[in-house]
Order: sequence, then C-alpha cells, then structure tokens
Amino acid sequence: MSKSASTSRQRFERYRTELASRPIGARPKDTIGVQAASARTRSFGQLVRAYFQLLRTERKTLVLCFSTLALSTLMGLAPPASVKIAIDSVFGSAPAPRWLLDAGAWFVEGALSPPQLLAVLAGITLAVVMSKVAVGLIGRHRATQLAKRLQIRVRHAAFERAIRLPLPRVQQLRAGGVASLLREDAGAAGELVFGLLYNPFRAAVQLLGCVTILAYTDWRLLVGALLLLPMVWYSHRTWIGRIRPIYRDLKKIRDETDGHAAESFGGIRIVRGFARETAEGNRFVRNTGLQARTEMFVWWWSRGIEISWELFVPIATVALLWYGGTQVVAGVLTAGDLVMFLTYVTMLLGPLEVLANTATNLQTQLASLDRTLDLLEEPEELHGARGSLPIRRELVRGEVQFDRVSFSYPNSERRVLSEISFQAQKGSVVALVGPSGAGKTTLTNLVARFYDPLEGSISLDGVCLRDLRLEEFRSLLGIVEQDVFLFDGSLAENIAYARPNATMQEVKEAARVARADIFIERCEQGYATRIGERGVRLSGGERQRLALARAVLADPRILILDEATSSLDTESERFIQSALRDIFPGRTSFVIAHRLSTIQEADLILVLDEGRIVERGTHAELMSSSGQYAKMVLLQTEPIRVKASV
Ligand SMILES: Nc1ncnc2c1ncn2[C@@H]1O[C@H](COP(=O)(O)OP(=O)(O)O)[C@@H](O)[C@H]1O
Ligand SMILES: [Mg+2]
Repeated sequence: MSKSASTSRQRFERYRTELASRPIGARPKDTIGVQAASARTRSFGQLVRAYFQLLRTERKTLVLCFSTLALSTLMGLAPPASVKIAIDSVFGSAPAPRWLLDAGAWFVEGALSPPQLLAVLAGITLAVVMSKVAVGLIGRHRATQLAKRLQIRVRHAAFERAIRLPLPRVQQLRAGGVASLLREDAGAAGELVFGLLYNPFRAAVQLLGCVTILAYTDWRLLVGALLLLPMVWYSHRTWIGRIRPIYRDLKKIRDETDGHAAESFGGIRIVRGFARETAEGNRFVRNTGLQARTEMFVWWWSRGIEISWELFVPIATVALLWYGGTQVVAGVLTAGDLVMFLTYVTMLLGPLEVLANTATNLQTQLASLDRTLDLLEEPEELHGARGSLPIRRELVRGEVQFDRVSFSYPNSERRVLSEISFQAQKGSVVALVGPSGAGKTTLTNLVARFYDPLEGSISLDGVCLRDLRLEEFRSLLGIVEQDVFLFDGSLAENIAYARPNATMQEVKEAARVARADIFIERCEQGYATRIGERGVRLSGGERQRLALARAVLADPRILILDEATSSLDTESERFIQSALRDIFPGRTSFVIAHRLSTIQEADLILVLDEGRIVERGTHAELMSSSGQYAKMVLLQTEPIRVKASV
C-alpha cells in the first residue's frame, strides 16, 4: 500500500537509484511493482538468435526480400555517378565512359554532341531509378507481409501460452497486462522485420556500396570511412546498452497502468459505491506520472545519440570538402570526383545516422521480444504432469475417489486440506458443508484438477487423475460457481460455450432443463439477445440458470456446483432446486451449499472443518448422531420453529 501511495517523483527517484547501481544488461529487480517473469534479460546476440529461430519457416521470403532490397539499394547509388560523368565528360573535357558511348550509338549515328550525351545519360539514370523503385516496392511488400504473418503467429503463440499458464500465474498478470503483452509485445515480433533485418540490411548494402566506390576512387577515403565504424560500435555500447533496460521497465509501468485502469472500470460499481473515483483517478495519475518521468529520462539518453550524430555528420562533410578540395586544386581529382565524393559520403553517413536513430526503436522492439520469449518459455499449467491416458467419454462411470489427500496452495505453508478420503459413487450427489474457509472450494478445485494434491491421490474410475489427459478430463466437467461469468455474445452463444456447434434445439432443451427458458423467451430478441454493452441486465437468479444451462449442454460426467444457490432469492432457488432434480441423474455431482434444502437429498454429506472431514453420512444419519451438522441444521431451522411456536 505504501508503495502505491508514494508520489510518482519518489518512485522515480527510487527507480533511478536502483538503475544506477544496476550492472549494464542486468535484469531489474521488482522495483516498480510488477514481478519479473523469469530470471534474466537476454543479450543482444541471444535475442537475434531467437528471432532467427522464429523466422526459420520464412527462408524463401527472406531471400526474396533481401535480394530485391540489395538490388534496389545498389541501383539507388547510380545518380551521384551520373552527376560525376556529367560534370567531367559533358561540361568538362574528360572522355565519356565506354558504356555510355555504346548506349548512345543505339540512338545516334557517329559522335555524340554534349546535349545528346547528357540526354542519354539522363535517360539511363531515370530508367535505373524507376526500376529501383519498382524492385524496392516488391521487396518491401513482401517484407510487410512477412511482418504481419509473423505478428499473427507470435501473437497466437503468446495467447495460447498465456491462457494455459498455471492459475496463480494468470492471477498475477493483471488483465490489462495480458492485453498489452499480447498487443504490443507480441506485435513487436513483426516490427522487428524492419527494425532488425530490413533497415540494417539496407544500411549495410548502402554502406558497402559507397565504401567500394570511394575506395575505388581514392583509398584514403576508405580509411576515413572505416574510422566511422568504431564510432558506431562505441555509441551502441555505451548509450544503447543503457537504454534497453529502461524501455523494458517502461513497458512494465505501462502494463501496470493498463491493469489499474482495467481494474477500475471492471469494478466500477464498487468504485462508485465507495465513492473512490477520485482515489482511483489519483492512482492512475501516479502511474502515468511515473511513466512520464521515466519516458523523459529515456528521452535524454536517446537525444544524446541523435545530437552526437547530428553534429558528426556535418563535421565529416566539411572535413571531406576540405580534403577533396585540396586534391582538386592539386589536380589529383576532378571536380566531378569531388561532387561524387560529397554525395557518397552523405549517402554513407545517412545509413549510419538512420541506424543510430532507429536503434532506440530497435531497443523497444527487442525488449518486447524479450518479454514475449519469457512468456513463451513459461511452463504451462501442470507442466510435465498432464497425463497421457486417453478418455472414452461414453465409458466413464464417474466414480471419484479421494485417498488421503492433503493440499496447500503454492506459496503457502498452511495445510488447506488434510487427509481427505472418501468415495463418490457413480451418479451420486456429494454435498460439502462447513464454515467458510473450511476448504470446500479447494476440494472441488482438486476434483477439477486446477491443482494437484500435495499428498495422496484422486482417481476417476480407479485411474489417478494425473495419468489422464488433462483436456479430455476437463471436458467431462461442468462447473457452476456463485459468480457467473458470461462472455460478450448472445444468450444462446453463452449457453453453447462448451459446445459451440450445438444446434438451436439442443440449446433450447438445455435452457428448459435449467429453467432458463422462461425468462429468455421473455427477452425481446429471445436467444439472440446480447449480453454486455447493448444487452440485457440479468438478475442473479437468471445468471445462475444461464450458467446451469451452459453446464447442462456440456453434458458433464462430473458436475460441480459451488454455492450456486447461495445468493438466490427463495423463488429462484426453488426453480434451480427443481432443475437440479432433472440434472443430477447420471452424473457425479459435488454440491457446495448453505441451504438445507439442497443438501438434504444428497447421497453423501461431508462436513469439513479446517480442511478435515469431521463428519460424514446422509442427512438422516447425521441428524441422528447430533454432531456439528445437526447443530447447523437446527440453527437454520430455529427461527421457523420459534415463529411456529408463537
Ligand atoms: N488461491 C489461493 N491461494 C492461497 N490460499 C487460498 C487460495 N484460495 C483459498 N485459499 C485459502 O484456503 C482456505 C480454504 O478456502 P476455500 O476452499 O475457498 O474455503 P471454502 O470454499 O470452504 O469457503 C482458506 O483459508 C483460504 O484463505
Ligand atoms: Mg468457497
């Protein structure tokens, strides 16, 4: 609490202190409130290798892109050479190159006059430039396609992984955090096609082309050009090595902000109900404040690079003008040579400058890739213990057995369940009762295999759950909880969530069994009524019946009802009671309920207290033993008897 209550300035100061003491390239500690997913920041080399790993399947496209790009970049080097030829051979008296005269011979008989020579030169240059544009466009189009394809692939993989992360991990990732991870970070894989491959490659080709031409004309210029390279390396090392971690941190701050905002609006009724609008607004501002401060900080680092290049390029040009000018005066070089030099040197420095400027962009993208790779490397739920035995649904009897099961939640020492043993016969109803916090929900979590027991085992028809294929096992389940989550979409779509290809007939039948048909048909658009923004407002009882219909349509072998009737009014409860009588047969059901009426008819009642089964039996058995259950029942019926006796 104290952390989020401190001002953004204080948090930023703390952040800077931490940053200064951090060795370059090291992974940040948990300084800004979002946990680090895994242990380290990858080095540049590791990231590039990982990226090429991703591009493995795109080799053909890459070859096409790179070859067209090289061709078009080299053709782009033509104009300065034409200018040199024009200055020396058209305006001056130097002999024109052989290929130009040959080309001219196609159009004109005999010797060319200077205007004719100029026209032929201009025509050839124009043709080269136009082809450069066309070839470049083809390559760029393919590269963009590749980027989008990659983006889709990586986003998909990231989503697939995120949705299969262990539950506690998903709860750690805030809703907004996941969204920005999928949108921005996973999307960056596409942008890297340009940031990491396309732009640097073009720069490299242009650089090499220029250097070759310069060296061909005057080798001293090559030496001068090579002196530039250490400068690139130096700026990369010192400046950029600092910037990437900051971008990484910025991402996290942004995620946190997104997450907060999503939370504020998700819980809007609570926010309003407790008049916390201003406080939520302040929390948001504090986060955006920290974000802005950090962005300003990183702005200085990036501008440092930019400014040094802005100064460096003109200085280099002036130096060349001076050096080349003396050579022309001395008669070593022609005026055309000097003009060509100046142009090529600008073209040489251009890519370097572009590289330096976009390097910061590349850093953000690499930081994103880093985070995406972290996500992709995180283990899935029940990693390594997902089981391999296939399940034949129609052969499942649904006998669930707990054998001395003990459990504590990850990151917690406390035993939530101890030595739980019982057998749920096929098709029976097991009711779990006990004070809140006794471990009832936890027990059903184990049945659903959201977690595995710490000790002991749970089996279905005598086979340990660990050995069964996880997804096939889950498809045997139907779960209805107190808080019903409905997806955006129509009522029918929500009922058919587990079986999207169910017919309308089946949907309606499920709704009928769950007693949801009456209120659905009262809606103006019936089953097509949309839930959410433009849709209906459903009461708690209606939502429960919808959830029940969803479970019915899934036709589960194992049904879990966790306080599904607890918050309902008597009428809704009676509806659901009668629905349950139709639904229970043929399924093994676990029912957590406070209301007596739901429990009375259960085949087995387990009374839990502090994670242990303290009593078990049917309603009649437990009543006659006058233990904890009997007391609870008496407590519930007391007021009625008092009333009756008045
Ligand atoms: N995800 C969790 N992580 C850590 N502890 C938990 C978690 N969920 C529940 N608990 C703890 O486990 C105990 C049993 O909880 P639960 O099974 O939800 O009780 P019940 O459903 O009987 O009210 C409680 O003390 C609760 O604090
Ligand atoms: Mg519970």
